[in-house]
Amino acid sequence: MKDIKFSYAKAVSAEAVRAYEAQVKNAQEMLVKGTGKGNDFLGWLNLPADIRPQLKDIQASADLLRRECEVIVCIGIGGSYLGAKAVNEALSSSFEWLEGRKPVIVYAGQNIGEDYLYELQALLKGKRFGIISISKSGTTTEPALAFRLLKTQLEEQVGKKDAQRLIICITDAKKGALRTLATQEGYKTFVIEDNIGGRFSVLSPVGLLPIACAGFDIEKLVDGADRMVKVCGIDSPFDENPAAQYAAARNELYKKQGKKVELLVNFHPKLHYVSEWWKQLYGESEGKDKKGIFPASVDFTTDLHSMGQYIQDGERHLMETVISVMEPNHKVEFPHDEQNLDGLNFLAGKRVDEVNKMAELGTQIAHVDGGVPNMKIELPKLDEYYLGQLIYFFERACGISGYLLDVNPFNQPGVEAYKKNMFALLDKPGYEAESAAIKARL
Ligand code: PA5
Repeated sequence: MKDIKFSYAKAVSAEAVRAYEAQVKNAQEMLVKGTGKGNDFLGWLNLPADIRPQLKDIQASADLLRRECEVIVCIGIGGSYLGAKAVNEALSSSFEWLEGRKPVIVYAGQNIGEDYLYELQALLKGKRFGIISISKSGTTTEPALAFRLLKTQLEEQVGKKDAQRLIICITDAKKGALRTLATQEGYKTFVIEDNIGGRFSVLSPVGLLPIACAGFDIEKLVDGADRMVKVCGIDSPFDENPAAQYAAARNELYKKQGKKVELLVNFHPKLHYVSEWWKQLYGESEGKDKKGIFPASVDFTTDLHSMGQYIQDGERHLMETVISVMEPNHKVEFPHDEQNLDGLNFLAGKRVDEVNKMAELGTQIAHVDGGVPNMKIELPKLDEYYLGQLIYFFERACGISGYLLDVNPFNQPGVEAYKKNMFALLDKPGYEAESAAIKARL
């Protein structure tokens, strides 16, 4: 079995990266010994091993929903949504919703769009559906709102007793409204451990249940992550440790070269939500104390025809990290055409991926020439095992990188600001003082 590979040769010198060796070792020790900031949120570090005993139970719940439902609605937002969405999109057919395969996985609670919820309710009308309701705190407004609507609809459609079997909640062991509700209604539940933050929870039931519901192999996903625990761990030599190298290279580019924005680049549109997950992981972990690399993303070659101009020629505050998939899962060859009216016979007999790879290489050379340092993560192929590797690699590098930046990578105090204002504007009980203050500003 191969491993994912990270390279920074087109971004920064080996000497500059090696200069971080001692700092990275220190960051790794803070993670492993639990001596750094946010040390009560390190449950993700050994999650690939710790989650094993729960895999059978998670799979059994997924099998039940898969057997009984045409549609499974995953309710959650942020870390309680993006990991599963990323893996399911990356592994599903690009045209899944037209292929008639059952069950279809849909998502809710990740926005408050009235039309979105109306259309979802209309879609579910008369269909046999199940619900996975995910919220660590159990009090987040967006998923709570969606859950109330869809729980009511499910009970109306199949009755309270059947609805009880078709609803599974993933939440805190004791606290929160979702826990209270699940206990009272007798729903099957899985626990999000206190020491695992939302954005680090994809390898817990939060990610694994919806991924298993989509029919993907969660054991292989965990195997891949487990492999990276070793490869990215504290005992792995600095030069051979991709998480250490990535954390060092991006910090060097940020601190010494003024590269304030990191673009995560893919050349396979299925990876779009992997980038969304990564943006949350890095944005919420590092963007604090008025510091942090801004995580952004582009899907190439699509966005080369929209954002390509800025990346090539705009402000030089960008660095790129490309996720390069070495071998596609399917083969398509260009045919020969007698008339050659489109002038493409020079491609006859070549695979589409060969053209994509040349676009990737051509883009790398152009962007490096244009002053955009280019880092690369090679993924041998797109499957559960390598996605598991990629997830843990990014999580580990994020923990190290946050400590290199000297922030607490595991809290998110800034997320509360909008919530406080929204509750005040909606006259939520308990927010009377904030309500008066904010309304005076309008
Ligand atoms: O990473 C995080 O902690 C957040 O993005 C949360 O996952 C998100 O806000 C949802 O929170 P909860 O799971 O408590 O509903």
